Amino acid sequence: MRLAEPVLTAHVTEPNAHTLERYLEWGGYQAMLKALAQAPGEVIETVKQSGLRGRGGAGFPTGMKWGFVPKDVARPKYLCVNADESEPGTFKDHLLMERNPHLLFEGSVIACHSIGAKVAYIYIRGEFYHVQRVLEAELAKAYAEGYLGKNIRGTGVDCDIYVHRGAGAYEAGEESALLESLEGKRAQPRLRPPFPAVVGLYGCPTIINNVETIANVPLIFEKGPEWFASIGPEKNSGPKLYCISGHVARPGVYETSMDVTLRELVYDFAGGMKDGRALKAIIPGGSSVNVLTPDALDAQASFDGLVKAGSMLGSAAMMVMDETTDMVWLAANLTHFYKHESCGKCTPCREGSDWMYKVLQKILRGEGQLRDIDLLLSIADQIGGKTLCPFGDAEIAPVVSTIQHFRHEYEHYIREGRSLVPRAPWRGSGSLAHAH
Ligand SMILES: Cc1cc2nc3c(=O)[nH]c(=O)nc-3n(C[C@H](O)[C@H](O)[C@H](O)COP(=O)(O)O)c2cc1C
Repeated sequence: MRLAEPVLTAHVTEPNAHTLERYLEWGGYQAMLKALAQAPGEVIETVKQSGLRGRGGAGFPTGMKWGFVPKDVARPKYLCVNADESEPGTFKDHLLMERNPHLLFEGSVIACHSIGAKVAYIYIRGEFYHVQRVLEAELAKAYAEGYLGKNIRGTGVDCDIYVHRGAGAYEAGEESALLESLEGKRAQPRLRPPFPAVVGLYGCPTIINNVETIANVPLIFEKGPEWFASIGPEKNSGPKLYCISGHVARPGVYETSMDVTLRELVYDFAGGMKDGRALKAIIPGGSSVNVLTPDALDAQASFDGLVKAGSMLGSAAMMVMDETTDMVWLAANLTHFYKHESCGKCTPCREGSDWMYKVLQKILRGEGQLRDIDLLLSIADQIGGKTLCPFGDAEIAPVVSTIQHFRHEYEHYIREGRSLVPRAPWRGSGSLAHAH
């Protein structure tokens, strides 16, 4: 069933939507009280029944993840909300936190109750200073009214929430690097196993969930797991936020369900292509997933639908590009980002991103050779699946998928020494070939 009307973002455009007063007017915190009356195991079962899958990138079933936390250990347990939101093109968690922070707090308390944690950390992206201020001001109000802290509203449940602002590293959004950063160390990934659900923050069982994942939890208890499971396709259930950016008429965050197609997202929700230009490519899930071409427009924008189409839903950040986009330049631009953000721990990622970038620059300067295309694919092959975290897979996606779909553009650069695409006047004369 298609989501009839927005629920996560229902009130975000209303005045003072972020305040506790308004949240309570709209029935806020009632779902939490319902969930706290249930045993932790029952809460996990309800979330499993809803079919909720993580919105942070991989689409892992949330209830199942919560179930991995051992019940018989005396050590503290923790919830870490991943609010790093550094994936290029992604801006949904920012909106939720800035305009609907109590939904996140409410979901966090329910999640803590289900895994036996008394503390949740919201690990927020370094640049989100303003959002941190909103969260902290609203947290203080929730504490004052007894919706957080000791013996929440007389339920006997204790839960504290802390906001921790990172230092602006993309890798800090990777769950094990996030834990390192929260512990005061460099944001570099950990070797797994053990997985964080068993050995996480300070060596204790820890669940890491994305902001949007946790924000969905109160809806499951308010409207029922059956309702949640009925929204969208099977195994891809619930409301979903899409961040649409690039060459569309109305970029923004749109809420619908995962039965929506890429075509509907681009042409109905985002108002179609800007200035009537033709669509050339879409990256459907943040820069870490494969580029798709207009043949994929009828693909379902769900976890499973986009895998079938040869890409991934990732963070549901749809970057839409028109016919004026130079795909080799795009690959170089994104590779520049990955080379800069690689944490440096794994050699294939650290050296490979820099090497790919140098080869791409050479092609952009008109000094490439045809064998450089195969060299790029060979470097990518030596990175993918060979790193401690999925950063390696992420950084090869733009290169491999642009070669797959737009090899002729690479060949044109190499043969003619210039782009196949006439440079759009609004892009100016700046070129990545000469940067760095
Ligand atoms: C390099 C990298 C960056 C990531 N950044 C984020 C992020 O900013 N926010 C996020 O929720 N997940 C991010 N992830 C995914 C997390 O590792 C993790 O899978 C997610 O937080 C789990 O939450 P979920 O189960 O609710 O989806 C990133 C992964 C990688 C490899």
